[in-house]
Amino acid sequence: MTLSTFTPNLIAGTHLPTPLGGTLVNRLLRPGEDFELPEFIDLPRLELDGRAFADLEMIASGAYSPLSGFMGEADYLSVIEHMRLANGTPWSVPITLPVVREDARQYQGRVLLTHAGLPVGTLEVSEQYEARKSFEAHEVYRTEDPQHPGVAALLAVGDVYLAGEVSLFEVPRGLFPAQHRTPAEVREVIEARGWRSTVAFQTRNPIHRAHEYLQKVALELVDGLLLHPLVGTTKNDDVPADVRMKAYDVLLANYYPPERTLLSVYPAAMRYAGPREAVLHALSRRNYGATHFIVGRDHAGVGSYYGTYDAQEIFDAYTPEELGIQILKFEHTFYCKSCSQLVSSRTCPHDASHHLVLSGTKVREKLRAGEHLPAEFSRPEVAEVLRGAYQQAD
Ligand code: ADX
Repeated sequence: MTLSTFTPNLIAGTHLPTPLGGTLVNRLLRPGEDFELPEFIDLPRLELDGRAFADLEMIASGAYSPLSGFMGEADYLSVIEHMRLANGTPWSVPITLPVVREDARQYQGRVLLTHAGLPVGTLEVSEQYEARKSFEAHEVYRTEDPQHPGVAALLAVGDVYLAGEVSLFEVPRGLFPAQHRTPAEVREVIEARGWRSTVAFQTRNPIHRAHEYLQKVALELVDGLLLHPLVGTTKNDDVPADVRMKAYDVLLANYYPPERTLLSVYPAAMRYAGPREAVLHALSRRNYGATHFIVGRDHAGVGSYYGTYDAQEIFDAYTPEELGIQILKFEHTFYCKSCSQLVSSRTCPHDASHHLVLSGTKVREKLRAGEHLPAEFSRPEVAEVLRGAYQQAD
């Protein structure tokens, strides 16, 4: 792991970092209470898919501060080209609302946003503009390959983007109500526990020994761990969020100090944008109140689109002060049979024949075949939850 020296900009009298842009956005607005909404029936309706609904929540809850709505064209192009909003604030991934061209004309003024047919929020349309999909794919995903799941999702949606401020009627606490906290709520927990520093851990996977090692090395340095699994849309062969949540519960119950750990969900969809997404993940964790963020090998990567440490190097595009969250960069970590512990190339003298490295594909094969995962790779309690889920699914 490598450390830079930097002190985050804290909110006076607290140990919490300032949100990106200075204030935590709050667009949770109840119609009839916080603002007047004409009868739903009069408004054009726009149905959001899972990704767009997750983005709506991320914006409205402040997780994507300073965004208070879907991006306009100036921010969109600036983010793609310069990895900054038009005003210079660091931002790496366009947050946009696509519609198909035939429908675009009906969306003027206030629009009622629905999900699964139910009203969930509003959009004040301020602008409509053309998506530059090939430019976006090339710069943000570093590929235009339609096999890339993020590029595939980009190509599947409409070619016109709507911009404007949003409101969200209610936080969709969904399947995990006890662990579904807004940034303001996570910040409250951090303050209540008196953590002077908090490391956030993004994951879309079960926690294996390598993940645990990164988290515990970090916990030697900081007061609290925000275990922050992404539970929005993921690709089909990723382990489903409900199974992962069971696995996180058994892991925390058996191997983590409860007073120094907080399990909370991160509602966004996975984009698989590797380095660009690592920056988005870090900035939004600052908004959740974290002072530190772990970036290991091939963060948010998929297949072999990105180099192992591209998602670490990309942070060099910003100053530590601009990021406002300290990035803890870890080498590829694995178990070494001769060292009898988790190691990386920074700590282990042995060659690959001494190492236990299992790919995600290999792990899934073993689980489907009903085989046990080696204890050096995964805690037995976690392996059991996964095995149970894979056996049931077949
Ligand atoms: S991700 O898409 O959410 O990044 P994953 O859940 O696998 O995928 O990774 C979570 C975090 O742990 C990322 O920062 C990733 O770089 C890091 N990581 C995962 N496995 C390892 C490993 N074996 N060694 C070092 N870092 C790792």
